[in-house]
Amino acid sequence: MFKDLYSQEAKVLEENFVSLEIPAASDKIINFASGVPDPRTIPVKDIEAVTIEVFKRYGYNSLQYAPSTGFASLIDEISRFVYRTRGLKTNSDNTIVVSGSQQGLDLISRIFIDPGDIVVVEEPSYVLALNVFRLRRVRFVAIPVDDKGMKVEMLEDAIKRYGREGKRIKLVYTMPIAQNPTGTTMCEERRKYLLELAERYNFVIVEDDAYGLLTFEEEAPKPIASIDKSGSVVYLSSFSKILAPGLRMGYIIVGDDETAKKMHIMKQFMDLGTSTLSQLIVETALKKGVVDKAIEYAKSLYRLKRDIMIELIDEELSDGVSRTSPKGGFYTWLKLNRDVDTEKILELSRKRGVIFTPGKRFCINEDKCLDAMRLSYSNPSENDIRIGIHILADVLREVL
Ligand SMILES: Cc1ncc(COP(=O)(O)O)c(C=O)c1O
Repeated sequence: MFKDLYSQEAKVLEENFVSLEIPAASDKIINFASGVPDPRTIPVKDIEAVTIEVFKRYGYNSLQYAPSTGFASLIDEISRFVYRTRGLKTNSDNTIVVSGSQQGLDLISRIFIDPGDIVVVEEPSYVLALNVFRLRRVRFVAIPVDDKGMKVEMLEDAIKRYGREGKRIKLVYTMPIAQNPTGTTMCEERRKYLLELAERYNFVIVEDDAYGLLTFEEEAPKPIASIDKSGSVVYLSSFSKILAPGLRMGYIIVGDDETAKKMHIMKQFMDLGTSTLSQLIVETALKKGVVDKAIEYAKSLYRLKRDIMIELIDEELSDGVSRTSPKGGFYTWLKLNRDVDTEKILELSRKRGVIFTPGKRFCINEDKCLDAMRLSYSNPSENDIRIGIHILADVLREVL
């Protein structure tokens, strides 16, 4: 009925924009498809106690409007938390509380991107970030990821190539630590190199650190923002993967005052502010050590699940696929040794109760990722991981 009334943005929205599959909890399906946390990592009892405390302490104010960019006391807690855990020094004026990092991505792209701007993404990359950028009608430059993260030297080549045509790259979106969808972590050398390029060629690095606190090594790598002295990095993170995604709590940290002010204003237009109750819950959970405890548990559980999945892939699938070696996060990325579209494999495995996400959904150059798939070990139980990989191995044997 409204077809001829749609905005340019709405016209871009097609069914294939919805690429995130989250089955209902009642579905009897083994879900390797979505980056949904293991239910055991959500500290329900602790959050219940915190919520009761919040209501007692703040009364109706816990359900009143909150400052649109976040409570100052919450921002202080977040500042202490990111300094302690990520080595990131912040200035409270430059921290913007957002309703999940997904809103952060939308907000950041509204601040920086016009239609036709050149945006660099990793290939493969986080599909819902790609969709946010698609909505802004950007021109993508996709830089491949290997086992040391984005191939930054290829980025420099691209910058020079576009430079010769009088064009510039405006924004680089990266997930340096435990990347979605490959699970790889960018080596320190490349992290420094990327920052140098941003300083030299004046583009913004959007650093999405959704999984930075869920790494499995002794010493977690620090974000690029922690070594950024020039204010080239816009840092983005979230409580979704370390506490509870339903709280919809994330934050942006930006080095530059003027940009922060614009973000504060934009945030107001977007939703008048992140849920007051969620803000007070997260603030209290941070103060009481609930978040630290949840992270420790989540890390050990995801490490175990990663080990189970990787070991089984090596046992059951090694003839047919190669895989990444995730050092954190939720995902591993498989590439088949033969030219088969993994959408077809998904059709078959779905019939047998196992879903995953086909590689092409994460790629700008879809043809390069047809034979790939992302497997998430975050949500299924350890036993379901065993059953699911076994089924997947059967399906692959039939097809290959
Ligand atoms: C890399 C990355 N960024 C951002 C998000 C969005 O998370 P949220 O909006 O829940 O913080 C996700 C969720 O899967 C993600 O994987």
